[in-house]
Amino acid sequence: MTAPADLPRLSGDHAVRATGEAMANVAKTGVVAATEFQTLHEMVRTARERLDPKVWDSLIGGSETETTIKRNRLALDSLAFRPRVLRDISQLDASVERFGRRLRLPVFLAPTGPLQLFGPGGGATVVAAARSFGVGHMLSSGCTPLEMVAETAPDALRMAQLHVRGDDAFVIDYVARAIACGCAALCLTADTAVSSRRERNIVNRYRMTGAAVPPGQPFQAALNWRTVRLIKETFDIPLGLKGIATAEDALIAVDHGVDWIYVSNHGGRQLDHGRGSMDMLPEIVDAVAGRAGIMIDGSFCRGTDIVKAIAAGADLVGLGRMQCYALAAGGEAAIVRMLELLEYEVQRAMAMLGVAGFAELDRSYLHPAVSVTPPGVLSAFPLLDGSHTSS
Ligand SMILES: Cc1cc2nc3c(=O)[nH]c(=O)nc-3n(C[C@H](O)[C@H](O)[C@H](O)COP(=O)(O)O)c2cc1C
Repeated sequence: MTAPADLPRLSGDHAVRATGEAMANVAKTGVVAATEFQTLHEMVRTARERLDPKVWDSLIGGSETETTIKRNRLALDSLAFRPRVLRDISQLDASVERFGRRLRLPVFLAPTGPLQLFGPGGGATVVAAARSFGVGHMLSSGCTPLEMVAETAPDALRMAQLHVRGDDAFVIDYVARAIACGCAALCLTADTAVSSRRERNIVNRYRMTGAAVPPGQPFQAALNWRTVRLIKETFDIPLGLKGIATAEDALIAVDHGVDWIYVSNHGGRQLDHGRGSMDMLPEIVDAVAGRAGIMIDGSFCRGTDIVKAIAAGADLVGLGRMQCYALAAGGEAAIVRMLELLEYEVQRAMAMLGVAGFAELDRSYLHPAVSVTPPGVLSAFPLLDGSHTSS
């Protein structure tokens, strides 16, 4: 497709060059310039080539049968678009305002604990990329220290995620640190009462973070709404709850004054046989009815995925594994490139839907459809194994 003159072109946008060129460069030099990635699947392929197979497996995998992770994709792929035509989209703008800031896309990089496994710098590298492109960042409490990330990108939209692995004093200390570091929100993860069985890791005899059971896990098991009240009563920082999967819990959260409902099944890494995130979203959006913001994650890999989430009522979309693939493929520059590629896809989807901005999207642009793609952990990247050379 020729990029319309009225939509920005990608840097290094030379569609006629063989897509295999970036891969050939990796083979020759072990290095690929981020602008050589012309598609997201090339970036994912490079990450797979670079990572130790056990690390790769632990990254892409989910729990037990991996049904939840496949349902994340199935739910997205079971929505078709209802495009509108003959609308002036020449002034198309994919940016949004969130937390009083302008973001280039309604996107943040979701909390992923052991980022240092995927590339040097871990959380510091990732937040630098989020800042330089212009999206949000949520730091896992199991990643780089809050203070180091704040120092790396003081002016980024930074949020802090918390796994409760201690008593009330532990919680109060962490939230106070997040506020001191200038975080725009604190997000409590609620879907890790126990650690799950990730069978790829078990079969590989691989432990991603060292310990079989994370230290302090009993506090996570005992977590309940009292801690939500504690944070709300002690601090003045927007509070999110990550891992909300039902309208019932979303309503309790809103009654507790929670500011952000984070719809998630932990990327299919916790409860197996859960619903796909996009299947959970409508009942939660309806129940919340604007009384809290809505974040969502779970296999959002393509521009059309982001557009679907916003059309269905989400305010922000989290990218988990995508940031890890990009970090492994080429560090900060590749994460920025991944976001550029997503922006490119988002802009084209919006243009062809006949909307000039995200505020124009609503559920009327979506229609239930039979998925044509067998869902899999990597099914958003059909060209990953060179299948474009055959039908
Ligand atoms: C390697 C890895 C580490 C993760 N670590 C955390 C974490 O520390 N805290 C948390 O709340 N979620 C964690 N998650 C879940 C992500 O925040 C997010 O919910 C999930 O990855 C979204 O799905 P996606 O990876 O398909 O985008 C992790 C996910 C991955 C892949």
